[in-house]
Amino acid sequence: MSAMNKQILLKSRPVGEPTADNFELVETAVPTPGPGQFRVKVIYMSLDPYMRGRMGAEKSYAATADLGVPMVGGGVGVVEESNNDQFKVGDYVMCGTGWQSYCLSDGTGVMKLNPDQAPISTGVGVLGMPGLTAYYGLLEIGKPQAGETVVVAAASGAVGSVVGQIARIKGCRAVGIAGSPDKCAFVVDELGFDVCLNYKDADFPEQLAKACPDGIDVYFENVGGKVFEAVLPLLNDDSRVPLCGLISQYNMTELPKGTNMLPALMRAMLTHRILIQGFIISFHFNHLPAFLKDVSGWIKSGKLKYREDIVEGIENAPEAFMGLLKGKNFGKLLVRVADDPTRN
Ligand SMILES: NC(=O)c1ccc[n+]([C@@H]2O[C@H](COP(=O)([O-])OP(=O)(O)OC[C@H]3O[C@@H](n4cnc5c(N)ncnc54)[C@H](OP(=O)(O)O)[C@@H]3O)[C@@H](O)[C@H]2O)c1
Repeated sequence: MSAMNKQILLKSRPVGEPTADNFELVETAVPTPGPGQFRVKVIYMSLDPYMRGRMGAEKSYAATADLGVPMVGGGVGVVEESNNDQFKVGDYVMCGTGWQSYCLSDGTGVMKLNPDQAPISTGVGVLGMPGLTAYYGLLEIGKPQAGETVVVAAASGAVGSVVGQIARIKGCRAVGIAGSPDKCAFVVDELGFDVCLNYKDADFPEQLAKACPDGIDVYFENVGGKVFEAVLPLLNDDSRVPLCGLISQYNMTELPKGTNMLPALMRAMLTHRILIQGFIISFHFNHLPAFLKDVSGWIKSGKLKYREDIVEGIENAPEAFMGLLKGKNFGKLLVRVADDPTRN
């Protein structure tokens, strides 16, 4: 039986949490490359929180995903057939694959990967978009100075794990925040953060204050909500907040009830001269060469570690993605779509 292209289509737009009904698995013919194109057999598909934003119809920094076509996303794979001089059969590449087992490309935005340098899966993880996000956001906006306290949320994840380790490399005290005792243990024992706290503990705000006796100089924001409310009173004069993500809000359908925190936020920003700066990494890809040099060097020298959470089979992508928005992943979330011939 000849191979088929398994695709996960966006069938409908979620209201609140995505459900299995928002996706549809179909099988189509494996596509044939046209002039200047090549076909990639996808090996790993990346699942990332930003995809929740693409599923909605709200206006954002990037176009909303269309219904009835494969969900948008990046991945890594191998070139199988090519009419493009720049990409040969057997090349490993990172590209916008979408949620499917085969895709076509004309080479736009495609990065070649060298499996002898690093596992190809890292092209969408620690040496890809999430790693660059951590590197750019911390160093260019957070501007950590040796001896300062850097706090990062979603600390065991793709972005947060890199943020805290770079903070340590730069001589800072790294305080992680994560959603379970085993994630916290990993963040301290394996990644070398100074402390990691579970934000689900009832006394988390008190634990955070105790863990940051000199206040917080850099808070790398990945989650928002209650975690930010605990961080705000601890932010020092001239502190910096790279605003990277707000995952606790991505499934929200209305503003939370309760005290309006905006006056307290504005007052703290004014009186403590706090810089809060949002950023979207796709506008900063010019930092890629410096990032790749530094981070691959730190990985090789053992200063920076990473963890991947690999789900088997494209048909399991929707469930894995829904789990990502609830903290079920432990490390960079990937879907293995086909065997990785570069990995034993
Ligand atoms: N600005 C940009 O260009 C850019 C680029 C990449 C990523 N991001 C953002 O960076 C953040 C982290 O992304 P990632 O790829 O590294 O994902 P990740 O950390 O690998 O996975 C997401 C993690 O978020 C945590 N989480 C989920 N729901 C939460 C909630 N309600 N409250 C607190 N934490 C929650 C979970 O960890 P716990 O179990 O610890 O709760 C989950 O494992 C996301 O907000 C993402 O949107 C932004």
